Amino acid sequence: MIVAIDGPAGVGKSTVARFVADRFGFFNLNSGSFYRAVSLRALEKGIGADDQAELTELAGSLDLDIKEGRLHLDGADVEDKLRSDAIESMVPTVSACVPVRRIVNDHIRRITAGMDVVAEGRDMTSVVFPHGEVKLFLDASPMARAERRFRQGTSELSLEEIARSIEERDKIDRNKEEGSLKITEEAEYLDTSDLTLEEVCEKVSGKIKEYIVDPGE
Ligand code: DC
Repeated sequence: MIVAIDGPAGVGKSTVARFVADRFGFFNLNSGSFYRAVSLRALEKGIGADDQAELTELAGSLDLDIKEGRLHLDGADVEDKLRSDAIESMVPTVSACVPVRRIVNDHIRRITAGMDVVAEGRDMTSVVFPHGEVKLFLDASPMARAERRFRQGTSELSLEEIARSIEERDKIDRNKEEGSLKITEEAEYLDTSDLTLEEVCEKVSGKIKEYIVDPGE
């Protein structure tokens, strides 16, 4: 069974997907970590974010895998290296490169083949798993997402600065040539602006249980 979850930056998708995957014993796949791993290796090799040919060749040469919930790049666990400032600024451009997206999507489909999976990202419901049994789009206003991030206390930025950077990331995500963030008709839309993360987890779990009880086929 495939549970595909899309939504903008900072909406809490990763936390929700991890929780729900644990609860149901499903494999958790965070698709953003693949683009982050490609960016990591590109940075190490001095490949520019705009050099599409080099990025494509690089992405095609990488061994990408997930073991025990952690991204492995060429056999090494790089999960703790994926959220540096340098990667944060590179990954939006790397993830906009269409051939890189196709390579990443092939890895994702290969890794999850035949598994029960909760996959989250920007194009899980639209491109990678349009046939998924449960498809959800989690949304929240830019200010609600900025407040969540601000409360985490991990950023040096003011609330207003966080909100601005979130809006900029939204613009990039929505305007990708392929795999852009969009609400498909098949995905159920869930506005989480006024919900706690626990409430969102309960709602998503409820959708999965509904499907398990009545697959409707
Ligand atoms: O979800 P995240 O912040 O880890 O995503 C990192 C980057 O990758 C971000 O710029 C959005 C992009 N991304 C994407 O284009 N498609 C996906 N399926 C997942 C992430």
